[in-house]
Amino acid sequence: MIERTFVIIKPDAVAAGHVGNILNRYEEAGFRPEAMELRTIDGEFADKHYAEHLERDYYPPLREFMTEGPLVAMILSGKDALLGVRELNGLTDPSKAAQGTIRADFGTSVRTNCVHASDSPESASSEIGLWFPGRA
Ligand code: TYD
Ligand code: MG
Repeated sequence: MIERTFVIIKPDAVAAGHVGNILNRYEEAGFRPEAMELRTIDGEFADKHYAEHLERDYYPPLREFMTEGPLVAMILSGKDALLGVRELNGLTDPSKAAQGTIRADFGTSVRTNCVHASDSPESASSEIGLWFPGRA
């Protein structure tokens, strides 16, 4: 099934110069950008994106990290994009992510884990609505 998912190349990966390499992984797997923008978000916007995580003890430093510099926000489209992109990304903690995944190759900690992707059709739809309201 052709699906859309919402993806972020996080500020750590932009600062480290990994945007091209990460985009390559998605494109080589057959996913295509429908929207893409370099953007710097503020704390209030981060709170909306990570609404389900606000009460977690890891959230304050995550909020700081996500707002510290530019990130690349995008909609990716392709066959089974929701699961496919999360498989390319790998597990949340790069030290536990499978070899050859984006997080294993470019992530540096469970917080600075270089990418985000929607985890369900519902989260894709709400994240696309938040980040790219014209595309919802
Ligand atoms: P989560 O939704 O569990 O992971 P994923 O990004 O794989 O869907 O967590 C969201 C983000 O919160 C995660 O990408 C990085 C951050 N985070 C931490 O900083 N520390 C943690 O212990 C966890 C679980 C997540
Ligand atoms: Mg998640």
